[in-house]
Amino acid sequence: MKYLIANWKMNSLDISDWILKFENNCGEISSRETLQIVICPNFLQIPFFIEKSAFSKYLLTGSQDVSEKDPGPFTGQVSSKHLSNFSEIDYCIVGHSEQRMAGDTNAIVFQKIQKLINEKISPIVCVGESLETKESGDRENFLFKQLESFSNFENLKSNSIIIAYEPIWAIGTGISAEISSIRESIDFIKATLETKNIQSEILYGGSVNAANSKEILSEKNISGLLVGNASLDGEEFAKIAQNF
Ligand code: PGA
Repeated sequence: MKYLIANWKMNSLDISDWILKFENNCGEISSRETLQIVICPNFLQIPFFIEKSAFSKYLLTGSQDVSEKDPGPFTGQVSSKHLSNFSEIDYCIVGHSEQRMAGDTNAIVFQKIQKLINEKISPIVCVGESLETKESGDRENFLFKQLESFSNFENLKSNSIIIAYEPIWAIGTGISAEISSIRESIDFIKATLETKNIQSEILYGGSVNAANSKEILSEKNISGLLVGNASLDGEEFAKIAQNF
């Protein structure tokens, strides 16, 4: 299976207009049986997106995050049980570097993964190093620690989990990582997970756009893309979808 994930973050966009632009420009792209195109609006926009995209043969809905807690007195949070009230939500991003910067530790990310798996929602787990870590030559060690924090969880072997490798220095900068560097990290992630008997699809994210997506997708161990800025324009995002 291949995956194309849109992370709209906290941006304002006209959802009806976006869907129209996507549908008018995507042409004939791979079907849902081989390519899952998942749009992650903010929590408030999820019901509206589900309603407006219901006619689409391609578009699926995901969440940008979830609470690590069960429902209860946690102001401002949204639990996996709330997400599961929407049968349309099959995917949820966790461990995004913007959330890690806001306080999500590896332990919290692991709790979020567990909550999602309990609700049969597939976690899209973001991992990736900072520029400082990369330059100090500590990248593999850093990635290993992030993967180690959840990969011993037995239930992962029988549930679907997706990993998104997103080097922090490539996110939102307009400068994607070099192919050789992406390849090294993805191969390392794949090998590490295989030692735990976890078969996970691995995506790349970080300044992906219509122009660079084809080359990135030609890498054999890359099963898809997680796209931020370039997903805000329905036409550009449709062009990325055509490269699968
Ligand atoms: P970007 O964001 O495509 O704007 O770099 C990717 C992400 O944050 O997931």
